[in-house]
Amino acid sequence: KRIAVLVSGGGSNLQSIINNIEQGNLNCEISYVIADRECYGLERAEKHGIKNVLLDRKVLKEKLSDEISDILENDDKKTDYIVLAGYLSILSPEFIKKWSRKIINIHPSLLPKFGGKGMYGMNVHRAVIEAKETESGCTIHFVDTGVDTGEVILQMKVPVLSDDTPEILQKRVLEKEHVLLIEGIKKLLGK
Ligand code: GRF
Repeated sequence: KRIAVLVSGGGSNLQSIINNIEQGNLNCEISYVIADRECYGLERAEKHGIKNVLLDRKVLKEKLSDEISDILENDDKKTDYIVLAGYLSILSPEFIKKWSRKIINIHPSLLPKFGGKGMYGMNVHRAVIEAKETESGCTIHFVDTGVDTGEVILQMKVPVLSDDTPEILQKRVLEKEHVLLIEGIKKLLGK
């Protein structure tokens, strides 16, 4: 099977996918890495000889999802699934309907807690600490037309320690994400 990976940032989750494929632990191919902005994720793809495309979200605006559809549909080989690995733009409802139950997202909290608009990146970890939670974690879920509302596939927990800063908590969660994402993709692929 072939997966497209959508990124907006550092791409450490993308790197985990690449590493697991190269080590023979994940049986699929990356058809494309698509970014909605300049980011290190694109460089990671380039370094590993993976086809990658930069789509400027500010230029494309509402056409961003259509552009992604065009790329994936006009390829000579089929893309079966889409993995959002730190992708920050919202996909259009039409796009999501077309790829229903074929798009997964990874989110750095135990959804439904700390999800929704504005809950991304360090905001999530800051909110978790402010709420005095004793545990946090990460969630893999199917993408539906809401923000972080799709059916949960897998979750992994981490403790929140009393002296945690958002940065320290982010690091602890991110390490788990790298593991959980691989398990989520395996589930998606039906293995
Ligand atoms: C991760 O925390 C992911 O859960 C969130 O964005 C971050 C991406 O990190 N959606 P990276 O770009 O994979 O390093």
